[in-house]
Amino acid sequence: MPTQTYAEFLDLSVDFPPEGFEVINNELYFHNINLMELVETYGTPLRFTFLPIISKKIQEAKLYFQQAFLKNDYQGKYIYCYCTKSAHFKHVLVEALKNDIHLETSSSFDIAIIRALHQEGYFPKDRMVICNGFKNDDYKRRIADLIHDGFTNVIPVLDNKEEFNFYLHEFENQEISIGIRVAIEEQPDHELYTSRFGIRADEVLDFYKHRLQPYSQFKVTLLHFFVESGIDDTPYYWNELEKMVHLYCKLKQINPDLRYLDLGGGLPYRNSLFFDFDYEYVINEIVANIKSICRSYGVKEPDLITEFGSFTVAESSGIIFKVLGRKKQNDRENWLILDGSLMTTMPDIWALNQKYILLPINNWDCKYDRFILGGLTCDSADYYSTDAHTKVLFLPSTRKTQYLGFFHTGAYQETLSGVGGIHHCLIPTPRHVILDRAPDGTLIHKIFREEQNSREVLRILGYLP
Ligand SMILES: Cc1ncc(COP(=O)(O)O)c(C=O)c1O
Repeated sequence: MPTQTYAEFLDLSVDFPPEGFEVINNELYFHNINLMELVETYGTPLRFTFLPIISKKIQEAKLYFQQAFLKNDYQGKYIYCYCTKSAHFKHVLVEALKNDIHLETSSSFDIAIIRALHQEGYFPKDRMVICNGFKNDDYKRRIADLIHDGFTNVIPVLDNKEEFNFYLHEFENQEISIGIRVAIEEQPDHELYTSRFGIRADEVLDFYKHRLQPYSQFKVTLLHFFVESGIDDTPYYWNELEKMVHLYCKLKQINPDLRYLDLGGGLPYRNSLFFDFDYEYVINEIVANIKSICRSYGVKEPDLITEFGSFTVAESSGIIFKVLGRKKQNDRENWLILDGSLMTTMPDIWALNQKYILLPINNWDCKYDRFILGGLTCDSADYYSTDAHTKVLFLPSTRKTQYLGFFHTGAYQETLSGVGGIHHCLIPTPRHVILDRAPDGTLIHKIFREEQNSREVLRILGYLP
């Protein structure tokens, strides 16, 4: 058993605390929020969302692009779209929209969200709505109706050639802006060689010339691609970006309406204490590369659109559990059993082996040991055993009440696990609290959703009317 305390160990092993975390009197604070106080107020398991982080991240990204534009004398504009699918919640969108941003949609109900936001005055009709995804009839219908109803900046992005037939029929005389999603090549070691999303790059110019150009009411203003492995300083990413910019320039030469290059999402968020992504460098390289390729074609550089989802919301949320019990199953393994399920609250842990920042909320002055965390379901896959980098999990070793927090869990987890509904072993959806700061800096708490109760579950299962 190590002789150091957990606090001493973490101090030695990583440059702790990173931005947003602080330990005072052996308790953890998140952006100056006393998490023990939060737990004492609301209990566990507890999901929380701290709204100001969302605006902070958007402003950060805008600044990186602004700096890169200045440095490279880039003449285009930067347009920040939030990709709603990362977290569709109204509180998330209302906070994000305070930052003069636009939205990207991926399915039919997203359009209903746009209308609801508009009705309440959060989303003016001239904001950009980029409609991505393989569209069923309902989604196409709703997009068209949005345009008919006077939303002036809606851009349906063709995911396949057939999709155009719908708009052709729908907009015989009205001018509309459309985009094309270009399929990227997956990394060579990927099990699927080519992405199923978008139109093949080598077919885009012909498709434009023969199918789109003849109809003057359709202005192809946008070219979109998304490297699903994310924006990263790798030869693969730079290669895909360059191919897309070359294609942009070739299309621009025959289609003067083209003006947007949509880089998609994929800007990483901090998912580990060791995270050291150099945003400034990578964004500058993106801008410099686009500028230089456009110059070689004598083409004006495009306005750049991004659809950052995880980057916008991931760091705003966390989930806190209490250790319910401790089990030593053999000589090596110490299990901490939590009062909720990892698998059902953060499905990416189970499905993608995703790692999050995991920190104790209290007992930082205790010695530490190696542990495995177990969830409340009966499923052997409901566990968490390694940190992003250390391959083992060290936590305070104590018999005292212990709370543990997973941080930066705000993207995709609720939509994958569902909010309400039924879950593995009927482990209920935890209570969710929204946190904000009043203009004078005081913390505002609000319960967004109570912990799910048995009546709701039994109703779904048919036991109750
Ligand atoms: C078309 C498109 N844009 C943006 C995103 C957001 O990606 P991220 O959350 O990695 O920023 C996704 C995610 O799947 C996507 O499919």
